[in-house]
Amino acid sequence: MKKRVAIVIGTRPELIKMAPVMRALKKRDIPFILIHSNQHYSKELDENIAKNLKLKTADIHLHVGSGPHGAQTGRIMERVEQVFHKMKPALVLVHGDTNTTLAAALAAVKLHIPVGHVEAGLRSFDYSMPEEINRMLVDRISDFLFVPSVVAQKNLLKEGIQKSKTYITGNTVVDALLQHTTIAEKQSSVLQKNKLEHEGYILATAHRPENVDDKSQLVRVIRVFREMAIQVKKPVIFPCHPRTLLNLRKFKIAVPKTIHLLGPVDYLDMLVLIRHAALVLSDSGGLQEEAYLLKRPLMTIRTSTERPETLSANKIVGLDLKKAKNAWIFFQKHKAVWGQSLGKGDAAEKITEVLWQKLKNK
Ligand code: UD1
Repeated sequence: MKKRVAIVIGTRPELIKMAPVMRALKKRDIPFILIHSNQHYSKELDENIAKNLKLKTADIHLHVGSGPHGAQTGRIMERVEQVFHKMKPALVLVHGDTNTTLAAALAAVKLHIPVGHVEAGLRSFDYSMPEEINRMLVDRISDFLFVPSVVAQKNLLKEGIQKSKTYITGNTVVDALLQHTTIAEKQSSVLQKNKLEHEGYILATAHRPENVDDKSQLVRVIRVFREMAIQVKKPVIFPCHPRTLLNLRKFKIAVPKTIHLLGPVDYLDMLVLIRHAALVLSDSGGLQEEAYLLKRPLMTIRTSTERPETLSANKIVGLDLKKAKNAWIFFQKHKAVWGQSLGKGDAAEKITEVLWQKLKNK
């Protein structure tokens, strides 16, 4: 194989969930180049993760930074197109549902470069989420759709996407967890630093625009965290995404003492925090998967999920106090069920095998 695969990432979760794919490509000697849009650029969201996971730093940085959706997506398209022009990749591989994912897939398809979409087929059916729009469009224009589950495949078939383009691989988040949990337990001192014990705290995160960009919504988020601290009788540890931190300050929202604000924590610390939490409260997609895999009861502070596979141990409570309280009562009375519906940890190998078969003569 002479031509290279171009992997385009831009945010923290893309880097984490593509790490196993990069390792698998390397193992099979499939040449690839890593392009980073720098949609995420803060140390905690980017650089530290690559370092801790011993990943190669990106070959090409696009330095797009933050901005409104149109401007950010446009900037990535413009810059990544130039790279594709020069390197003429055999295939472009993207992950998930961010603005980087959409921009790279669109730029590639217009240059007639085939696109592989990892974590294809997820649907929340909530069209107010930018991610829902991104993932639908990327699925529509991709040639290889690597779906994590049968549910995700069904979503695509319902939208008229040919079955022959879909490959059920499991989710690379499972591979990532298996590859990283032991390193995390060895390297992270987040529990000691914050004097935390196993099941001695609630872990909470919030970063979705619908939860944190509006003052009254962010006040409700804090209220849910505060009430859960009272009900569960444990403090809330709240590692804060930069976007949320900025808005808490901007709106001058007071955070009660039972909620311990931390800055953004790196991925390994986050894995340890999830693993030892009595309960996880979050609006993150990745955390829904990770809490499920680490067998922690979870409440999703959104009104929908694109990850129905986790619902046996994931209660969708929105910002509704009553629903949150009932969910906690439920978790205490019933033993949650954690299955293997997200895969076995061989998603990256399966993806790589498909790519190898398709590209070996190019
Ligand atoms: C993006 C993804 C979201 C993903 C999340 C993971 C889209 C539409 N959304 O959301 O799907 O779950 O990443 O974190 O692509 N900021 C920093 N430092 C950074 C990056 C961002 O301070 O390195 C701040 C800036 O104020 C910025 C804000 O966070 O405006 C939002 O960042 P952005 O990348 O636009 O979206 P996320 O909320 O991170």
